[in-house]
Amino acid sequence: MSDTSSNQMWGGRFASGPDAIMEAINASIGFDQRMASQDIQGSRAHAAMLAAQGILTDSEAEAIRLGLLTVLSEIETGKFEFSAALEDIHMNVEARLKTLIGEPAGRLHTARSRNDQVATDFRLWVRDQYDALDDAITALIRAFLDQAQSGYDWVMPGFTHLQTAQPVTWGHHMMAYVEMLGRDLSRLRDARARMNECPLGSAALAGTSFNIDRHMTAAELGFARPTSNSLDAVSDRDFALEFLSFASICAMHLSRFAEELVIWSSAQFRFVTLSDRFSTGSSIMPQKKNPDAAELIRAKIGRIFGANVALMMVMKGLSLTYSKDMQEDKEQVFDAADNLMLALAAMEGMVKDMTANRDALAASAGSGFSTATDLADWLVRALNMPFRDAHHVTGSLVAMAEQAGCDLAELSLEQMQTVYSDINEDVYNVLSVEASVASRMSYGGTAPAQVLVQIQRWRDQL
Ligand code: ARG
Repeated sequence: MSDTSSNQMWGGRFASGPDAIMEAINASIGFDQRMASQDIQGSRAHAAMLAAQGILTDSEAEAIRLGLLTVLSEIETGKFEFSAALEDIHMNVEARLKTLIGEPAGRLHTARSRNDQVATDFRLWVRDQYDALDDAITALIRAFLDQAQSGYDWVMPGFTHLQTAQPVTWGHHMMAYVEMLGRDLSRLRDARARMNECPLGSAALAGTSFNIDRHMTAAELGFARPTSNSLDAVSDRDFALEFLSFASICAMHLSRFAEELVIWSSAQFRFVTLSDRFSTGSSIMPQKKNPDAAELIRAKIGRIFGANVALMMVMKGLSLTYSKDMQEDKEQVFDAADNLMLALAAMEGMVKDMTANRDALAASAGSGFSTATDLADWLVRALNMPFRDAHHVTGSLVAMAEQAGCDLAELSLEQMQTVYSDINEDVYNVLSVEASVASRMSYGGTAPAQVLVQIQRWRDQL
């Protein structure tokens, strides 16, 4: 065990140490040190359970507990020296523990393996991320709710194909993102509940002959229960893939609003003004105020979905159980988590700070004959016309207005009657954008009254 040329954890049957390239490709300590606190948390629970089961003496367990606390504080204060020769966080922590407390450290690895250890640490890490992301998404939802509230009845154009379709309310548009983020939250919570099982005690792959209490370890670590199949437990990375899928969809949602901000903040639209705090200038064009944060958020989906694809490819076709391929799981998840967290924080800041330009929204709301559908609906309702015919008549009126260079509401009754003689004065009641949005009272529709209903429902729910 004292042979310095081979590994002190598993060097028993090795005559020489690894080639430098071998060490470089094999070591994960460069990144898995981010799981240090989860690793120590797992080891403490394991040691306490071994003592409760009489596998360790109380004094051995106490020495381990105190030693692990010292290791943790060394890591937290930056005093710990990580060693690539010790491969990963598990062996780095254990080796340091050995230096600190001696012989009992060697008993900590009883009835476990790095295979169940890494699966446990990584689940704990992902679970912590879920909890932080739950807060971040909730905060962003609140920011959208506040925007929706303050402009719940402001009119703006609604788009399909990025062409003016029908007028909608600003509040309704903001609430669309609340719905998307609400689904992200629900996906997050589903996935968190599904992954909340403890692999520890599955050992290398087959379980262990020691009389351990896996329920105790699971409870100690806040898991709902232990995993039920040791082979699956050490080779399962569904929890990481579900995290990346959830993160990809959430990042996709953020990218869509980011894109809208890029368009809306342009001089051609002026729907919103972004704050200086979330904009940048140009080194050459003094007039510029660029939506860089929005653009970067729009781009984050690239790396996050890339991570999802990468890990799916790593896992595809791996025979049971653990293979070292699986060490490639962590960097993808770490990077995706960091970037999703950053994107959410930046988006929250932008949404809180941005100003919707009510006048520009209203001016644009009526352009592009946005109330043409209201006109067609009126022909159906008031004149009992079949919708297909109403669509045709309205099309002719739009063409007439287009030629005259005016809005539908600016056509005279006489002009309209040349297209269809039964049209009467009442038609003007439906041609304003305010009337249009107010009429859309169907559940989930854009009417200000419906928007208020949804804002209240979300506020009650959060
Ligand atoms: N560093 C390894 C990983 O991240 C820990 C598990 C190593 N297990 C093994 N049998 N070599 O996957």
